[in-house]
Amino acid sequence: MTEGMREKAQEKTTLVLGGTGKTGRRVAERLTARGLPVRVGSRSGEPPFDWDDPATWEPVLRNVESAYVAYQPDLAFPGAAAAIRSFSELAVRSGARRLVLLSGRGEEEAAISERAVRDSGAEWTILRASWFSQNFSEHFLLEPVLGGEVAFPAAAVAEPFVDVEDIADVAVAALTEDGHVGRLYELTGRRLLTFAEATAEIAEATGREVRYVPVTPEQYASALVEYDVPADYAKLLTELFARVLDGRNAHLADGVQRALGREPRDFADYARDTAATGVWDGGR
Ligand SMILES: NC(=O)c1ccc[n+]([C@@H]2O[C@H](COP(=O)([O-])OP(=O)(O)OC[C@H]3O[C@@H](n4cnc5c(N)ncnc54)[C@H](OP(=O)(O)O)[C@@H]3O)[C@@H](O)[C@H]2O)c1
Repeated sequence: MTEGMREKAQEKTTLVLGGTGKTGRRVAERLTARGLPVRVGSRSGEPPFDWDDPATWEPVLRNVESAYVAYQPDLAFPGAAAAIRSFSELAVRSGARRLVLLSGRGEEEAAISERAVRDSGAEWTILRASWFSQNFSEHFLLEPVLGGEVAFPAAAVAEPFVDVEDIADVAVAALTEDGHVGRLYELTGRRLLTFAEATAEIAEATGREVRYVPVTPEQYASALVEYDVPADYAKLLTELFARVLDGRNAHLADGVQRALGREPRDFADYARDTAATGVWDGGR
């Protein structure tokens, strides 16, 4: 091994869990653009990382200085807090100095995972995010938008949709700057919107007919099962949605402003820029 190869092998890196997903992909891209070494942690990564297989955790943690931790499928699901605790402890034992956790707003179970990261001994930052705008374009609401009808159990509750571009900016700041250690940021967008209003803004940006149809949690769970989602998973998901959309999160927070010194991106900008990518052009 040459000196250069040895240095490369020992170079400290940033681990980005969920590094091909909505937030992680953007975090990894931003770090790479700055010339910083990055390791993507996911089942398709090299080496592979799987939350369901703790034997895969130690190899991805080698030479890791800091880690962005986005859990799958959701911090509110059974087993999440235990996995986050074990992973955080192992990360610190493996030499990681800093952990940045993506968490969910208004989720009691997620708060247990937050506590585990805070207790780990690492320099920590918690990103407690509201509902992602990109759920309409990169996640389970894309297909309904393309079908022209977003049937969802959110009644008329208002949600401060957050743009994942803002989450990625805050995550990168927390990973690379010292001023965010020991901070919990509640990350929301700059406006409260009902699902009907958000859907109407997408319709306007795309010029297509898309409407929001409020359904009951029971109707939604049944529809998921019809789409081959396992019944117990459909139940967990619907219960989670019912909790976080019961009005508890219907207020703005200042996490983006506090972390970055600027306003969050607006939902209208998200809708306009996303329409321009063509992702909403298919379907009906
Ligand atoms: N959506 C929202 O509105 C919202 C709001 C607040 C908080 N959150 C939180 O956001 C987190 C999800 O982050 P995200 O939306 O950025 O991710 P995401 O888009 O759901 O991406 C999934 C990522 O996780 C990897 N992955 C999937 N299953 C895995 C497994 N078993 N083990 C390891 N990696 C796995 C995927 O890569 P591979 O397929 O290669 O494994 C991919 O990189 C959740 O914890 C959720 O609670 C979401």
